[in-house]
Amino acid sequence: MRQYLFDGDNEGKPFSRKEFQDVVKAGKYKERLIGFGSLKDFEAEGFYIRNTLFPKLTDEMKVDNAEKIKTRVYKIDGEGLFTRKEHSEEKLADPYYLQDDDAVVIGEHTCRYPFRVKGQVGQSAMSYGALGEKAIQAMSKGLGLAGGTWMNSGEGGLSEHHLAGNPDIMMQIGPDLFGVRKPNGEFSWEEFKKKSEMPQVKAFEIKLAQGAKTRGGHVEGEKVNEEIAKIRLVEVGKTINSPNRFYEFSDVPSLFDWIEELRSVGGKPVGIKIVVGDMDALENMISYMKESEKGPDFITVDGGEGGTGATYQELADTVGLPINSALPVVDEMLRQYGIRDRVKLIASGKLITPDKIAIALAMGADLVNIARGMMISVGCIMAQVCHTNTCPAGVATTDKKLQDGLVVDEKMYRVANYIIHCVKDFTIWQPQPVSTAPRNLNGSTLSIKMNSDVYRR
Ligand SMILES: Cc1cc2nc3c(=O)[nH]c(=O)nc-3n(C[C@H](O)[C@H](O)[C@H](O)COP(=O)(O)O)c2cc1C
Repeated sequence: MRQYLFDGDNEGKPFSRKEFQDVVKAGKYKERLIGFGSLKDFEAEGFYIRNTLFPKLTDEMKVDNAEKIKTRVYKIDGEGLFTRKEHSEEKLADPYYLQDDDAVVIGEHTCRYPFRVKGQVGQSAMSYGALGEKAIQAMSKGLGLAGGTWMNSGEGGLSEHHLAGNPDIMMQIGPDLFGVRKPNGEFSWEEFKKKSEMPQVKAFEIKLAQGAKTRGGHVEGEKVNEEIAKIRLVEVGKTINSPNRFYEFSDVPSLFDWIEELRSVGGKPVGIKIVVGDMDALENMISYMKESEKGPDFITVDGGEGGTGATYQELADTVGLPINSALPVVDEMLRQYGIRDRVKLIASGKLITPDKIAIALAMGADLVNIARGMMISVGCIMAQVCHTNTCPAGVATTDKKLQDGLVVDEKMYRVANYIIHCVKDFTIWQPQPVSTAPRNLNGSTLSIKMNSDVYRR
């Protein structure tokens, strides 16, 4: 009631009604035009994008639109006060891929099989189990259709649902080692090798932390059905309490040794997912990267505002820096140590619209991960019950009955449209490539109206 009837357009958290609609409209209609003007509070602190006097013409833009994407969009036939008639129709869309020489290459100099990405926006980690099979399939098919993007499996292992649309996969490995463990819970090199030999799997992400969750996962035994047990390589019906840190390593040198081994066995890029909090720990890691010439091929920085399938309120609210504060710190520290060119940065944390994506890219990210935007594009209504298996929209639930309303072959187009829209709308601004040398943020690609409490250097 509050969300639909009483919240103002710019109210509501984690996403305002306006932000929610932005995602829905991009996915459903592939259109987000507005009239009259912005509803934003221009008196508040915020980030603004520097414009140019002479923008590039569309046909001067350096993008690869050679292949078209056959998608579907809705067209409105007529609208009354409480009614809307619409139909869906086929549409050929430009993908706005990066050209080959601009592609982001992860693990270019370290791996037998580097990961080449021709788009800068992908799906952030969400497991099968946290989301139902239909949501995962719709995302997989939509991302596969859009191309130039990727799907992160989440820590719950790699399922056939992730592979349904054949997108490029980043497989996440959490402390629970789901999908790459022996029956006794130890890491299985054999299972890891099997996963790394799958052509769809392009990279591995070791999850050290996620913005909203710095504790080990918990899955009730009743949720561990045969399928989930098979994917995660755990026992059917047995409650899983995951450790909150890997047993495989306990400090930076042992983490880096493990990364070296994973990379040498799998031949594919290996990254880490972190949340920025302790600056000394971050600097310790980055200085060791420089000194040892080892380290991850990419670092995913999740903001403290990130979402989760299940956590405690105080962890979601208070632990870790938000992305716009964290990102420039990591980027700048890598530059200061002269190793920014060795590692790609992936950012996440409520980056659901092209302006927010552009700001993250200008603040130091090479790529952007989206989780909840993807959920909204497959029908999430922000009921905020992901942890209960009772999601009324059939997105964050494995309950078959609740998933009845989620039609994969309809929602997949919304996912594709949403991703294309995100990529297209910031590409139109043609963010300029930035050098990897240390820089003065005042001269960066953004004009930043900074709140000194938010950003301290
Ligand atoms: C339902 C749900 C499940 C998630 N599962 C995982 C997970 O398995 N591993 C992980 O690292 N992050 C997980 N996340 C966090 C997201 O990957 C992401 O880091 C975070 O939500 C920030 O992105 P967003 O603001 O675009 O949602 C999950 C988030 C949600 C909402």
